[in-house]
Amino acid sequence: MEPTTFVLFGATGDLAKRKIYPALYNLFIRGKLPAAFSVIGLGRREWSDDTLRANVEQSLRQFSRNKPEDAATLGRFLEAFRYCMLDIGREADYLRLLDLVKAREEELGIPENRLFYLSVGPEFFGTIADNIRLSGLGSGRGWKRLVIEKPFGHDLRSARELNRKLSESFAEDEIYRIDHYLGKPIVQRLETLQQENPVIQALWTNRYIANVQITANETVGVEERAGYYDRAGALRDMFQNHLLQLLMMAAIHLPHDSSSETVRFKKKRVMESLELLQKEDVGIHVVRGQYAAGSIGGKPVVGYTSEPGIAPDSRTETFIAARLHIDNNNWRGVPFYIRTGKRLKEKSTRIVVEFKEPVKHPRSPNGAEPNLLVIEIGPKESITLQLNTKESGLDGSFKPIHIDLHAVGENSPEAYENLIGDALAGDPTFFAHWDEVELSWQWVQPILDAFGEDLVPLHSYEAGGYGPAESDALLARDGFHWWFDD
Ligand code: BG6
Repeated sequence: MEPTTFVLFGATGDLAKRKIYPALYNLFIRGKLPAAFSVIGLGRREWSDDTLRANVEQSLRQFSRNKPEDAATLGRFLEAFRYCMLDIGREADYLRLLDLVKAREEELGIPENRLFYLSVGPEFFGTIADNIRLSGLGSGRGWKRLVIEKPFGHDLRSARELNRKLSESFAEDEIYRIDHYLGKPIVQRLETLQQENPVIQALWTNRYIANVQITANETVGVEERAGYYDRAGALRDMFQNHLLQLLMMAAIHLPHDSSSETVRFKKKRVMESLELLQKEDVGIHVVRGQYAAGSIGGKPVVGYTSEPGIAPDSRTETFIAARLHIDNNNWRGVPFYIRTGKRLKEKSTRIVVEFKEPVKHPRSPNGAEPNLLVIEIGPKESITLQLNTKESGLDGSFKPIHIDLHAVGENSPEAYENLIGDALAGDPTFFAHWDEVELSWQWVQPILDAFGEDLVPLHSYEAGGYGPAESDALLARDGFHWWFDD
């Protein structure tokens, strides 16, 4: 891996503390960081290098999956860190930053390879990208990369505007848009599941599959993010990005040894084939809900509009379920159901592929369950195939058996570790390309419009369940049900 300077905007922030420092440390101890590596942390606070290092150490002790045990190893890791005070809007600060970056590059004798990680609000992305260009930070003799977090825009128009702005300073192949769902270990293995298993590859079509269900249920409520969440809602917060990415990953067909270009090209094709909804029809295919008071794990919780910072008349959705159709030869006729919500019974992110019903045999009235491929993405991680066998005994009833295709060991790398490692190595496979982001917003836009104009009812659901009853009705109309809701 090439020597790199990792320039971190938002070094004093929460994401850096919880995710970025632990990810860097785990990469370091696994030998996955470049041999010569320097980190420049940026923030508005008056910190010294030592304050930054003390904060990094503290974050590792609290959040890292491998705690720092060996003082010498920790010392070598922390030695790479420098701090620079920076006001995002002040051009002169970027010149000071450039001096520091260059001084470190000379000190370490490394090329001018610079990775700019923007762990700050999206309203700052444009200004930072401009100032990187204007200060000369972005015109070194090595490569440059820009890593940004979601949200990428608030709707189709603002996403396009943001992309236009960023593209004045960075080329598309220099922009790494993080969607942490693409960093999850099981999601990264979905391609192998198909590519290396001809049996699964052969079944991956509308000939054998009845429907696909993608669920991302959460028990948490709005937490301390009322200001952000009430403007976003479940559609922008989870659906436009994470869940449509899971849909793309589940629906692509990948030939053996696919390159990152192939993966991204195929994902784009899936999005292009997604049937667009008309604003007036959104209510037929989409259910929106908002949690009311209830109880989770035996503890009472308040309703969304009683949460601190949320207006009592807020119409923001905390739940969404939708039926999507991919109009191509592989998937025509197979509904994809997607749902996500807060304050539901359990935390669970999974994809269930339901195969077509077995042909009923007149002499076996106790019908078998359909075969299922269940991909548990989090918090449990596993891939299982549910098949039927006959119970020994006289009544001849069927019994489902589970074949464990893949269980991930404990202490596997976290999403951020995978993604930061990929960004450092220059591998864009698991980052969202602009085409995917734009097509996702395009698909979501009529829903945003319909919600904005109140064309779709907002159903209240009791905290601690599986969302509004209308979400079950959405599948029942097609003769299906959500799997694993008890
Ligand atoms: C974030 C959303 O992107 O993903 C949060 O902003 C959500 O609202 C989180 O809770 C869920 O991520 P995970 O990895 O816990 O499923």
